[in-house]
Amino acid sequence: MTTESETAVRPVVEIKNLHKSFGDNHVLRGIDFTVRQGEVVCVIGPSGSGKSTLLRCVNLLEVPQQGQVLVRGEDITDPDCHLDAARQQIGMVFQQFNLFPHLTALVNCTVAQTTVLKRKPAEADRIARANLERVGLSEKITAFPAQLSGGQQQRVAIARALSMDPALMLFDEPTSALDPELVGDVLTVMRKLALDGMTMLVVTHEMAFAREVADRVVFMDGGVIVEQGPPADVIGNPSHERTRTFLRRVLDPTHVEPTA
Ligand SMILES: Nc1ncnc2c1ncn2[C@@H]1O[C@H](COP(=O)(O)OP(=O)(O)O)[C@@H](O)[C@H]1O
Ligand SMILES: [Mg+2]
Repeated sequence: MTTESETAVRPVVEIKNLHKSFGDNHVLRGIDFTVRQGEVVCVIGPSGSGKSTLLRCVNLLEVPQQGQVLVRGEDITDPDCHLDAARQQIGMVFQQFNLFPHLTALVNCTVAQTTVLKRKPAEADRIARANLERVGLSEKITAFPAQLSGGQQQRVAIARALSMDPALMLFDEPTSALDPELVGDVLTVMRKLALDGMTMLVVTHEMAFAREVADRVVFMDGGVIVEQGPPADVIGNPSHERTRTFLRRVLDPTHVEPTA
């Protein structure tokens, strides 16, 4: 029997010595970290540092050459692992929303429930409506993606992922493709999810969000974790020069580094 406190700290994802190369390009160079139940971990770092590759390794959209990815204790890199079952526990939200353009918001949220989870249509419908309400889109259930703003489409994508009852949600720069005035609505939904106790691994350039919502911030550069810790440390008072240089760039993108 596990006590409540043990459950609260149980790792949902454990990554051990993860290496991934594309040809000669050694993208992930030994990544170790853990996401515990209920934790919100934000991953920050320069473009090309391997953040998306890391997220894609967590649900084996990319297969690492070395290392382990354990989802709730099960090694999904083990060839004997039931990968589909492991993947069902992980919801993923991408920069491009990847909705089915020919299906309404509601059906975008029911289709995998009925085909993959084999839920009855009425149950899938009820769950989809509840999740669309959760992201503030009750009024839009019959709309097609093209009739929705980017922010609304991204919120449908979040509702779709939530409808599968994931143990973990992965977000890869969920607001990067949005017009600036639409970013806030998506971040509000994500903040609410975090408060509801959802376990989340979020790649983001939204430093204010990371500072406020993350339990832990991971700074990646060149395929390694340079530093990680509470946002007040990693963003507020970073210990590495690489982190400071990166933060200067994202917090003041118009700033030009003096040349030596
Ligand atoms: N499918 C792929 N095939 C070949 N190279 C890739 C692939 N995906 C990513 N890369 C390379 O891996 C490196 C890291 O990319 P990525 O993980 O997307 O970084 P980030 O998300 O931090 O910007 C880049 O050099 C990129 O070109
Ligand atoms: Mg990326």
